[in-house]
Amino acid sequence: MNRRQFLLGSGAVGAAGLTLAAGGTQFLAAERGPISLRSRMTSHVFNRPGVGAFETEGLISLADNAPPPVVRLTQGERAVIHMTNGLEDYTTMHWHGIRLPNAMDGVPYLTQFPIGQDETFEYAYTPPDAGTYWYHPHCMTMNQMALGLTGLLIVEEPEDAGFDLDVPLNLKDFRLDAEGQLRPFFTPRGAARGGTLGNVSTTNWSVEPIYDVPSGGLVRLRFAATDTTRIYKLAFPDVPGRIIAWDGHPVEEDIAWPMADKPLWLGPGQRMDVALRVPDSEGSEVSFTGQFGTSQRTVVTLRASGASRRRDLAELKPLPRNPIAEPDVANAEIRQLVFGWTSDGKGSNNGLCGSYGYTFWSIDRSPWPGDAVEGVGPLATLELGKSYILRLKNESPNLHPIHLHGLVFKPLRSNQRQLPGNYTDTILLMKNEVVDIALKADNPGDWAFHCHVIEHQKTGLAGYIRVA
Ligand code: C2O
Ligand code: CU
Ligand code: CU
Repeated sequence: MNRRQFLLGSGAVGAAGLTLAAGGTQFLAAERGPISLRSRMTSHVFNRPGVGAFETEGLISLADNAPPPVVRLTQGERAVIHMTNGLEDYTTMHWHGIRLPNAMDGVPYLTQFPIGQDETFEYAYTPPDAGTYWYHPHCMTMNQMALGLTGLLIVEEPEDAGFDLDVPLNLKDFRLDAEGQLRPFFTPRGAARGGTLGNVSTTNWSVEPIYDVPSGGLVRLRFAATDTTRIYKLAFPDVPGRIIAWDGHPVEEDIAWPMADKPLWLGPGQRMDVALRVPDSEGSEVSFTGQFGTSQRTVVTLRASGASRRRDLAELKPLPRNPIAEPDVANAEIRQLVFGWTSDGKGSNNGLCGSYGYTFWSIDRSPWPGDAVEGVGPLATLELGKSYILRLKNESPNLHPIHLHGLVFKPLRSNQRQLPGNYTDTILLMKNEVVDIALKADNPGDWAFHCHVIEHQKTGLAGYIRVA
């Protein structure tokens, strides 16, 4: 048992603070054989300040009355995950950001047949990269994600990174009425614009949770934006710390510490790891906040607990780089992909995976006809082993977190702003922005490529890229 696991087990609690375990966050690790997951309907009590505590029925999780667990794997070690579908609807599970064999990617019809009720699919892969990732269904995606089925997937560095505590923070909104019951998560109006926003913002399915963390300790916060729609605009407390990883991979250029006047934007699908030095005096609290519309709300509060450990940020070694093949930018071929509207309102055919009667969005001027439509070719075919520049062109006034499966890429330049050059799997395109990204096409397969605002994905802004 390492230091971190000991802390999570023992809790190190003060009176009213939640330990992460008591806060409903369970951990499943692959070290002791296969991980078994089973989806199910459940309910959960959301306690909203000023509104009260109400039990919400009709949620979907992998646990009873609790959010989906945090799954922990180890870099370079084979993981076996048995996913059982306990729901009437079909499903698949996708491991967002992981470079894995195509058949394990969890995309219905493209990489596997959807998983039916009471069926089990075995996902087995060896994660090559350490970092913060996440998982979610890719069949009935809108429905199952909106109702709760999103969880963190942590790939540990084989060597302990030296933190006193690891704090996963699954940021997700729900759409609830005053009595805590679910409101419709899909609205055509939202789908045709920025997406349908939730009104109850949660962290690990808790509203404004307070976690006890060791006084004077070094903690690793893993923020993951798993909402179907919301771009989180985060501001950090004025305490010593730094952003150490972005979308899984260690940062190569400093990212400024976001204060309230300059929040940091985390789009759907994106993650951020932060190293923080907890204040010394027991009971002191530091809060991370988010800007939600015009109001500022707490995302999570950390409360110092116990005698100070007197740690120093300088004790942390930089995270080791992941083994990503550098694209050969000088010799890379350029492929353009255009994201925009469509006037073709035919709707899509997703077979067993949930279809909507609308298409509003397109890539290269055609809306994705649906996962179950046969004979739809790739948006681009890349030759295995070659380097490419993808020119991503947003011809719409809406923002799109564009996500590629199976490969990671490096942002090169934008027509609007300075981009951090960190490897990523998801990039947030601003209004009318054109961004060049570079990648080496070193993982063969048909890789889904779509906007991570799920309503955009499900109404046309999707496709796939073939590496062969
Ligand atoms: Cu996180 Cu294709 O998705
Ligand atoms: Cu993905
Ligand atoms: Cu979009």
